[in-house]
Amino acid sequence: MKPVINEFPSADGLWSGIRLATDANVEGAIVVAQGAIRWVGARSALPAEFAGLKPHDGGGALVTPGLVDCHTHLVYGGQRANEFAMRLAGATYEEVAKAGGGIVSSVRATREADEDTLFAQAAPRLEQLLADGVCAIEIKSGYGLSLEHERKQLRVARRLGEAYGVTVRTTFLGAHALPPEYAGRANGSGDYIDLVCNEMLPALAAEGLVDAVDVFCERIAFSLAETEQVFKAAKALGLPVKLHAEQLSDMGGAALAARYGALSCDHIEHLSAEGIEAMRRSGTVAVLLPGAYYTLRDTHLPPIAALRAAGVPMAVSTDHNPGTSPALSLLLMVNMACTLFRLTVPEALDGVTVHAARALGLHDTHGAIAPGMPANFVLWNVREAAELAYWFGQQPVRAVVRQGRIAIGGNA
Ligand code: NIG
Ligand code: FE
Repeated sequence: MKPVINEFPSADGLWSGIRLATDANVEGAIVVAQGAIRWVGARSALPAEFAGLKPHDGGGALVTPGLVDCHTHLVYGGQRANEFAMRLAGATYEEVAKAGGGIVSSVRATREADEDTLFAQAAPRLEQLLADGVCAIEIKSGYGLSLEHERKQLRVARRLGEAYGVTVRTTFLGAHALPPEYAGRANGSGDYIDLVCNEMLPALAAEGLVDAVDVFCERIAFSLAETEQVFKAAKALGLPVKLHAEQLSDMGGAALAARYGALSCDHIEHLSAEGIEAMRRSGTVAVLLPGAYYTLRDTHLPPIAALRAAGVPMAVSTDHNPGTSPALSLLLMVNMACTLFRLTVPEALDGVTVHAARALGLHDTHGAIAPGMPANFVLWNVREAAELAYWFGQQPVRAVVRQGRIAIGGNA
């Protein structure tokens, strides 16, 4: 497939006729040089040396940093609308999983698809997310569950980043579910985790396919001890960890992850006070996933007030996956983080920019508009920032500058 990025015009020059979300009452200006932010501030304070640069008129648009979707399972085969129907008829997520559906059914479909097929299926989903102003995205493996098929997923993730000129962070989630060929074996789970730690992870890391390592720590997935085994293997390779933690029950996963300096703990509906304190001490980001909460019709809210009181940074993400969150709009997640989880608008917007970048270890390059950082920002057709959380189902993007190129709205 021919890379899309080569067709995007350079964003170099002087962007004016914009209002920075940080100070929306005055005209702002952004200077982009060689794909990076050179200067940002009020138009009235623009140094004279930049005034003659190639002009880009924002038409009064509001500007925020490019959005960061810090938790997705974007690459997989098939879809699982049938399970949606089963749950509507009364089955729980855990019952669907035990009946042979759930993650394992996506594993079957992912194993059957070749790399080009997976790319072709994931690309339109990525395009939807990018249309909302996403400039960096995490993509997890975890639907292959063997060296060959996890490699295939991660390679597709890398290819998507190259083709679309979007920052992709790959996360190895080999410990997502027990593959069918290990189920029913005497020590199936232990044997599989040994394979994950001793063979799959080292091989994929050596191929440069792994930016971070994740585990699904849950009653229906892997135990605390198995999670720690994976974390040790990651640390031995110098890779950061993150965790699907306390989604369905309090396993104590967040405290463990914090001990390993985790970038983030994600879901966390059942996070305990001890977990919050451990995350605060380690600077671990709490990633909130309202799409999964909503799809599963969960009623157990994550402890937002306690996280806020502790000063734990909160990020918001789609958790795009075929089972529990077939969401393709990060802005819709901003709306849901406010309505369902009671985040304030500034919290929700920080959650898809600066804190999401931190959850990926990308805070030096993403989530803010600051001199020296690559140019990633979005021009929105709204008057005030609160509208980004208020409207839902609307696509207010006017233009997107991604990695120093005008990826959307190229005539701006
Ligand atoms: O983030 N919680 C585990 N993993 C995914 C769901 C995966 C699936 O059901 O396919 C999640 O919600
Ligand atoms: Fe997830």
